[in-house]
Amino acid sequence: MAKVRTVHRCSECGAGFPKWAGRCTVCGEWNSLVEEVEVVAPAARAKGISAAGVAAAGTPAVPIANVDPSAWKAWSTGLSELDRVLGGGLVPGSVTLLGGEPGIGKSTLLLQLLGAVAAQGRRALLITGEESSQQVRLRADRLGALQANLWLAAETSMPVVLAHLAAVRPEVVVIDSIQTMTDPELQSAPGSVTQVRECAHALVRVAKEHGIAVLLVGHVTKDGSLAGPRVLEHVVDTVLSFEGDRHHALRLLRAVKHRFGSTGELGLFEMAEAGLVPVADPSALFLGDRTLGLPGSLVVPAMEGARPLLVEVQALVASTDAVMPRRNVQGLDASRLALLLAVIDRRLSVKLGGYDVFASVVGGVRVTEPAADLPTALALLSSSSDTALPSDLIAIGEVGLGGEVRQVGYCAQRLSEARRLGFTTALVPQSIKDPGISGLTLIRVSSLMDAARHFDLMRTQPRPRKRAPREDNEDSSSVEWS
Ligand SMILES: Nc1ncnc2c1ncn2[C@@H]1O[C@H](COP(=O)(O)OP(=O)(O)OP(=O)(O)O)[C@@H](O)[C@H]1O
Ligand SMILES: [Mg+2]
Ligand SMILES: [Zn+2]
Repeated sequence: MAKVRTVHRCSECGAGFPKWAGRCTVCGEWNSLVEEVEVVAPAARAKGISAAGVAAAGTPAVPIANVDPSAWKAWSTGLSELDRVLGGGLVPGSVTLLGGEPGIGKSTLLLQLLGAVAAQGRRALLITGEESSQQVRLRADRLGALQANLWLAAETSMPVVLAHLAAVRPEVVVIDSIQTMTDPELQSAPGSVTQVRECAHALVRVAKEHGIAVLLVGHVTKDGSLAGPRVLEHVVDTVLSFEGDRHHALRLLRAVKHRFGSTGELGLFEMAEAGLVPVADPSALFLGDRTLGLPGSLVVPAMEGARPLLVEVQALVASTDAVMPRRNVQGLDASRLALLLAVIDRRLSVKLGGYDVFASVVGGVRVTEPAADLPTALALLSSSSDTALPSDLIAIGEVGLGGEVRQVGYCAQRLSEARRLGFTTALVPQSIKDPGISGLTLIRVSSLMDAARHFDLMRTQPRPRKRAPREDNEDSSSVEWS
């Protein structure tokens, strides 16, 4: 007979504890334990294993070469940016989790996906647990997703959802969202870790058994009442994250985990009236609002997966009276900035101790590859010396602890993308092969010192600040320039 017990489950990692505690001892998260009621199934498995038991219970093991891989090939969804992130398209039997903040456009993206899939003649099913059928129908009207092959059910009960799957037999199903799905057999509340995990497990089983591509919407909230998608990450094949600033139309789609391909690709969309529109020329978009001739600005051809993307790195170095000057980064790696500041201090003797330093990548993208070192360092020096760099210049190169500039990958792709967007000069590591792009002049540098001297960025040292000595010793330890 089934027994009911109370556990305290971590909403981050899913670990269960008999007693409540302020901190989960498994993942270290604070205030993440939530009390849940669970049904303990009678011990059905403790019967021992026999070959006959295995044969009766499921598929027997086979030599690996006998497994037919052809049924599990990715097929294009028809949404180019989504295909790019998925490395070709959807794989039958795969389970994908799409996470993102409220209102970012998750339902929009997946409804467009289902519309495109249905237009290919594949049967698609949308299970909505958050909106009424009427609401979804209106959105489908707006997105041009009214397709004969697209089926819809407003449902939250897991057994009914599985029945819908059996009845409709779709190739693709979207569950919006996994947090709203509940199994009445489990006694815990909707959205609890147990519910979310068990419903996800049930869907994974169906996906693998029938070769259905399943997409789950997962909410990202700090609120403990909803289980964070981190519990789900282990269960699914692919985790996609949909990001963007709600105040801007730009949306970024990236794979956080992907069992069928790389996680390096970035998908770019713009939110418009007719839904999410793929961004055709991202470099042009990112450089669109650039002000030329500004100190502290430099363009870097970064790689997002296999695609070069030109983005502007900006730096602002401003004197401050604070004891602890600010080191603020956006879209760059904070420890990389610290390293570059240390190199600038020691190797170039440009002292930025009494200055707030802000560095950011314009447009909401993250550039964490070492190729951005040289441009970031030069943007810092450009700001601190108040000297603008040429506006048709781009730079790439990793900066080492000695200030030396090192090779980076994909130079030819980066440089030809730069040339395509009208840049004529490239500051590059000494040792790179000349890709021979006409109209692009290479300036080879072996060190950050070389580069800074070339553009006269060490000429103007930061201006000394003259301050009267203060009586109160509140910030007497701040750095003074002499
Ligand atoms: N008529 C419209 N024209 C343009 N954009 C719209 C229109 N209606 C909605 N949007 C955009 O779609 C967004 C909502 O998208 P969507 O419902 O897909 O998000 P979501 O991630 O599913 O949100 P939730 O977490 O609430 O389910 C809105 O924030 C808005 O930017
Ligand atoms: Mg939604
Ligand atoms: Zn935990």
